[in-house]
Amino acid sequence: MPSVIKTELTDGVFTITINRPDKLNALNKQVLQELDDAIQEAYDNKNIRGVIITGAGEKAFVAGADIAEFLELKPEEGEQFATRGQDIFFKIENCPKPVIAAVNGFALGGGCELAMSCHFRLAAENAKFGQPEVNLGIIPGYGGTQRFTLLVGKGKAMELMMTGAMIDAHEAKDLGLVNYVTPLHDLLSETNKIIMAILSKSPIAVSKLIGAVNAVYDPQRNGFDEELRLFGEAFKSDDKIEGTKAFVEKRKPNFPGN
Ligand code: COA
Repeated sequence: MPSVIKTELTDGVFTITINRPDKLNALNKQVLQELDDAIQEAYDNKNIRGVIITGAGEKAFVAGADIAEFLELKPEEGEQFATRGQDIFFKIENCPKPVIAAVNGFALGGGCELAMSCHFRLAAENAKFGQPEVNLGIIPGYGGTQRFTLLVGKGKAMELMMTGAMIDAHEAKDLGLVNYVTPLHDLLSETNKIIMAILSKSPIAVSKLIGAVNAVYDPQRNGFDEELRLFGEAFKSDDKIEGTKAFVEKRKPNFPGN
């Protein structure tokens, strides 16, 4: 079976491209498995220092879970289906390396949820975001009800999920769903610029930041306690020794990443 994900590793940046453009990169079982594998590689491979997730073609980032596959599922399999997606998206959210979504067109349903599981998002001018599940008689199941609400606030999230309406890239930026809007042909280079700026910082500090900020959204953890714990860990790192020494010596730090 030909692969439906393309990956490329350049200068520490692992670009994962969902590659089913004829189906607007919809997330079928195979895409989810290959995405899971690619994220696992980002965890395991020391040469990968940051990740960009994008979609193939000029029309879609990801237009949702594969609706055709819904028809093959038994009514009682819904929760299990959603659990699979949620687990992979938690893995993305908790990746200790920065993960940025470069949204190049439709990001609907599971596509919007995938983008929201990344640490932050850039959007091309043609991007469109939405949670249209209500049109299918279901609700978002890959974390969308939670992350959308946390990102844009309850009132707007309720409205957009209840109406299933799409918003464009500029409205998404106004709502705080995306950080920047770029012309489509500049999207990957702009995303790359930001990720390279992050990769020049301490990998230890960046990974602790991800954990501390994610703790805000985790009801099992007290975020302030988590911040103390992670600050303490960062304080013991070789990166901290190098970063402070470089400051005093008025030179650029060369972080060892441990
Ligand atoms: N699942 C499966 N197939 C999908 C899909 C999805 N979520 N989204 C698009 N596709 C397929 C279409 O069936 C079509 O396949 P075909 O050429 O074999 O018929 C192909 O991708 C192109 O989509 P099409 O609908 O023809 O493009 P469009 O420009 O007319 O419309 C959208 C674009 C995004 C508005 C429309 O495809 C759409 O509404 N998709 C579903 C979005 C959705 O509800 N997502 C949430 C799922 S939970």
